[in-house]
Amino acid sequence: MTSTVPEIHRGLAGVVADTTAISTVIAETNSLTYRGYPVQDLAARCSFEEVAYLLWYGELPDPGELREFRAQERALRPLDRTTAEVLARLPATCHPMDVLRTAVSFIGAEDPREDDGTPAANLAKSLTLLARLPGVVAADHRRRHGLAPIQPDPDLSYAENFFHMCFGAVPDAEVVRCFEISLILYAEHSFNASTFTARVVTSTLSDLYSAVTAAIGALKGPLHGGANEAVMHMLTEIGDPQRAGQWLDEALAAQRKIMGFGHRVYKAGDSRVPIMQEATERLIARAGDPDVTRLAALHAALRHAMISRKGIHPNLDYPAGLAYHLMGFDIPAFTPLFVMSRITGWSAHITEQLAHNALIRPLASYDGPGQRPVPPT
Ligand code: ACO
Repeated sequence: MTSTVPEIHRGLAGVVADTTAISTVIAETNSLTYRGYPVQDLAARCSFEEVAYLLWYGELPDPGELREFRAQERALRPLDRTTAEVLARLPATCHPMDVLRTAVSFIGAEDPREDDGTPAANLAKSLTLLARLPGVVAADHRRRHGLAPIQPDPDLSYAENFFHMCFGAVPDAEVVRCFEISLILYAEHSFNASTFTARVVTSTLSDLYSAVTAAIGALKGPLHGGANEAVMHMLTEIGDPQRAGQWLDEALAAQRKIMGFGHRVYKAGDSRVPIMQEATERLIARAGDPDVTRLAALHAALRHAMISRKGIHPNLDYPAGLAYHLMGFDIPAFTPLFVMSRITGWSAHITEQLAHNALIRPLASYDGPGQRPVPPT
C-alpha cells in the first residue's frame, strides 16, 4: 500500500477556507472593499457608526436607520457597577488587552439573554459590546494614570465620546476625524487571524462572547494587532532619524521582524496605509512641535529604508501606531483601540459563520515518534 504525503499549508497560507460577503482584500490591486464599497470612499465619506451598520446589515443606513442605530448605541454605553468594580480590582500591571478580554468575558457572563444564536440575538449582543468597550478602554486608560472614570456623554458621537471618556475633553475636529478614519480602516479585513479565531469558536456553536474573547487574545499578539504598539516601542528604541538605516541593518542582520511592515495578503503595499498616512500627516502638521517633527522624520526614514532594503511595505499598524501616539494615547492603549473597531468585523463574521455553519477542524500530518509500547511500571 502506498501512502501519499499530504500537502502542508503551514499557517494556512494560501488556503481558501470559506466564502464571505463581508469584505474582500484584492492583493493584486491592493484594494479592500466592505460589502462592495471601497474602504477609501467609506473613510472619506462615512462615520464609523455608518460603517458598523454596513458591516452588520449589509447596506449603508438611511438617515432614519442611522438615527435609530446611534440612539441604541448611546443608550447602551454606561458600564454597570459590577463590571466597573471587577475591572478596578484587576492588578495594575494587567495589560489593557487582558483587561478588555476579561471585560468581554464578564459582560458575557452577566448577560441574562438566552443564547439562541439567531442573527438578531447576536447583533443585539454585538451592539452591547460596541457600546461598552470604549468605556472599558477609557476607564482602564484613566486608571493607569491614577484618574477616576468619566461617564459617557450621549450627545457625542462614538469617536468624540471616547476622547471625552479618556481625557475629559473632545479635541478639535481634525483629531477626531483622524481617529474615526483609523476605526473605519481597522473595522474589517476578511479572514485575518483574530476573525478566523472568532469563526473557529463560533463553528462549534459556542456563544458570541466566547468568540470575541478568543479573538481579543488572537489580536493581542505582535504579529497581528499588537504590532501597532510594537511600532511605537520600535520608534522609541531608534530615537533619531539619522539612526534609522543603521538600526534597520542591524535588526535585519539579527533576524528581527520589523514591526508594522509586511502582510500575509498584500505584498506590494496595504490598501489602507495611504489613507491612514495622509490623516497622520495632518496631525503632524498641526502639532508644530520639534519632537513630533523628529518622530515623523524617523517614521519616514525607517519606511524608506525598509522599502529600499527589503521591498517590504508598511501595513496599517505603521501609520496608526504613530497617529495614536500623536492623539495622546499611551502605548498599551493602542491595540485596545483596534478592538473597539474590529468588534464590528468580528460580529459580522460570527453572524455569517452561523448562517452556513460547518465545524472548522483541519487535519494535521503527524511527525512524532512511531507507535511504541508504554514501558512497564
Ligand atoms: N520584518 C522583516 N522581515 C519580514 C517582515 C518584517 N516585518 N515581514 C516579512 N518579512 C520577511 C520574512 O522574514 C520572510 O523572509 P524569508 O523569506 O527570507 O524568510 C519573508 O519576508 C516572508 O515573511 P513571512 O513572515 O513568511 O510572511 P507572512 O505572510 O507569514 O508574515 C506577517 C506576515 C506576520 C505580518 C509579517 O510580515 C510580520 O511579522 N510583520 C511584522 C508584524 C506586523 O506588522 N504585523 C501586523 C500585520 S497587519 C495587521 O494585523 C493590521
